[in-house]
Amino acid sequence: MAANWKMYKTPNQARDFFRDFLPLVSGHERDEIVVCPPFLDLPASVEAAKGSNVSIGGQNVHWKEEGAFTGETSAAQLLALGVTHVIIGHSERRQYFGETDDTVNLRLKAALEAGLIPICCVGEVLEEREAGLTDDVLRRQCVRAFHALSAKKAAKLVVAYEPVWAIGTGKTATPELAAEAHAVIRREASEIFGEEFAGKLRILYGGSVKPDNATALMSQEEIDGALVGGASLDAKSFAAIVKY
Ligand code: 13P
Repeated sequence: MAANWKMYKTPNQARDFFRDFLPLVSGHERDEIVVCPPFLDLPASVEAAKGSNVSIGGQNVHWKEEGAFTGETSAAQLLALGVTHVIIGHSERRQYFGETDDTVNLRLKAALEAGLIPICCVGEVLEEREAGLTDDVLRRQCVRAFHALSAKKAAKLVVAYEPVWAIGTGKTATPELAAEAHAVIRREASEIFGEEFAGKLRILYGGSVKPDNATALMSQEEIDGALVGGASLDAKSFAAIVKY
């Protein structure tokens, strides 16, 4: 169960969140819990979550170890803070910041190589869904993102299916639609990495997940967890989703 805070919260607000959130999920063992705050909130978040059952993730990572890449962050820099997870290829990066399937692949390989657990995002835009292209888009995004990766190297991979039309819109994919898309991703992962890998692959659903729709979504066999935006900013609301 992962939270993506996007560009919300200051370090103090992050501390307040963990003060309220950690007691609500302490002892919750069924799911892994990850919170991905903005980069500037990472030190405060790692500190606040230390010793708890909540891991901290970045929202992006560059593929080079270091260098003249203004505004970017390396895997080593994230690891040095105690960050364990990282979101890669979020649709907002793809839509607004020129992220491509190829840069997603580079970031994914670098994250895995460094020992970060990547949450790799895929998903179609509304026009693609309406044109009946959803399956093709998901397959293309997976093939390119996973290019030149072995099952062994990709062992820690987590995929998030986030239909772009469902993000921040209040329009959730129905549990059935989401499960169908997850099945397409799992089949593609099976083609690329083998059946055993695909069977174990965790695929999260993201897009307007709220406390009142989490149970229906998570009851789908194909849906292994959630990547939550807006509803993860409030401690009570994210805790209710985690404990659906
Ligand atoms: P919302 O939950 O706000 O729709 O955002 C989903 C998302 O983009 C998570 O990465």
